Amino acid sequence: MLAYEIGERDNVDSWRAVERPVPTLRDTQVLIAVHAVSLNFRDVLLATKSYGFPVAGPHIIPCSDGAGVVIATGSGVTRWKVGERVVGTFVESWIGGRQPHDSFETQRCGLLDGMLAQMVVVDQNGLVAIPEHLDFAEAATLPVAGVTAWNALFGLKPLLPGETVLTLGTGGVATFAIQFARAAGAHVISTSSSDAKLEQARVLGADDTINYRTHPDWQLEARRLTGGRGVDHVIDIGGKGTTARSVASVRPGGVVSLLGGMPGERIDPMALLKTSAILRGMNVGSREMFEAMNAAITLHGLHPVISRTYAFEDAKAALRDLTKGEHVGKIVINVPAISR
Ligand SMILES: NC(=O)c1ccc[n+]([C@@H]2O[C@H](COP(=O)([O-])OP(=O)(O)OC[C@H]3O[C@@H](n4cnc5c(N)ncnc54)[C@H](OP(=O)(O)O)[C@@H]3O)[C@@H](O)[C@H]2O)c1
Repeated sequence: MLAYEIGERDNVDSWRAVERPVPTLRDTQVLIAVHAVSLNFRDVLLATKSYGFPVAGPHIIPCSDGAGVVIATGSGVTRWKVGERVVGTFVESWIGGRQPHDSFETQRCGLLDGMLAQMVVVDQNGLVAIPEHLDFAEAATLPVAGVTAWNALFGLKPLLPGETVLTLGTGGVATFAIQFARAAGAHVISTSSSDAKLEQARVLGADDTINYRTHPDWQLEARRLTGGRGVDHVIDIGGKGTTARSVASVRPGGVVSLLGGMPGERIDPMALLKTSAILRGMNVGSREMFEAMNAAITLHGLHPVISRTYAFEDAKAALRDLTKGEHVGKIVINVPAISR
C-alpha cells in the first residue's frame, strides 16, 4: 500500500512517500481503507520539530485526521462492521468525561501512527461514525478542527443562545466555530487579516467582522460591538499578542479557549482578575464531544468549509500551501482507493 512517513522533520518537505505492507490487526483493532485526510497547523509544527508534545520516530505516518471505510476487524471488535464509514478521533484514550492523564501519549500522529496512508489500523474505541450527509473529504476535517471548536464552545461552559462568540482568523477551527455558534443562536464576531476572508465569514454566519490588520487593537472593537459589555467566548488561535487582547475582550466570567501560544507571550494576572475571565488550555476533545458535535452537524445539515483538495501525490504541496495561510477553512488530501 502507499503511505507517507513523517521523515526527519527538518522542514515542511520532510514527508516521504513509501510502499508498506498491509498492516496487521490486533484483536481490538479495525483496518480502515482511508479515503481522505485533512491537514492541521499541527502538521506544520510536527514537520518542523516545533510541536511541544511526544512524537515517535521518522517512520510514523503523518496527519492525525482521516476518514474511510472499515475493511477488516480484529476478533475482539464489537463496535464496528466491515463496510461502515468511520473517522478517527484525535486523542484515542479520551472517550468521555475529563481529559485522561495519558492524552498526549495517545494523540494520532504523535506516538500513534497518523492517517496519510491507503490503510491504517485504529483501535475500535478511536473511531466515530461519519454523519450520513457528509462525504469522506468533509468527514476528514472533523477530528481536530471540528472537535476543538465544539469543545471550546460547549465543553466547559456551554454557549447559550443570545451570547456572543469572538473567533480569531478564518482557519479550520474558526470556520467550524462560526458555524456552531451561529447554529446555537449566538451572535458571532469574526476577525481576519483579509476583508475578502471576512466576507466569507459573513456568509458562514458571522454577524460582525473586524480586520485585525486595520484594527490591531481589535479587543476595543469587540467591546464596542457588544455595547461595552464584552464577549462570552473567545476562541484564541494563540498568535502574537492575541491572548492578552482576548482576555481584554471578554465580559466578567467569559471564557478564553486558548489553542496555541507564541514563545515569550505573557499574561498580566491583574487583567484576568479584572475580568474574572476563564483562560483555558485545550487538547482538542473527547470522543463523546465528537459524537455530540456530529449529532448537531446532522441536525443542522452543516457542511465543513473545504478550501482546497489535493491529490495524494501532491500531499507535500498541500502542507506547503497550509503554511502560506491563504486558505479559509480546511485543506484536504484525497487518498486513492486500495486494490487488494
Ligand atoms: N490546542 C488545541 O487543542 C488545538 C486544536 C486545534 C488547533 N490548534 C492550534 O490553533 C491554531 C489554529 O488552528 P487552525 O487549524 O484553525 O489553523 P489554520 O487553519 O492554519 O488557521 C490559522 C488562522 O490563524 C489566523 N491568524 C494568524 N495570526 C493571527 C492573529 N495574529 N490574529 C488573529 N488571527 C490570526 C489566520 O487568519 P486569517 O488568515 O483570516 O488572518 C488563519 O486563518 C493553530 O496554532 C493550531 O495549531 C490547537
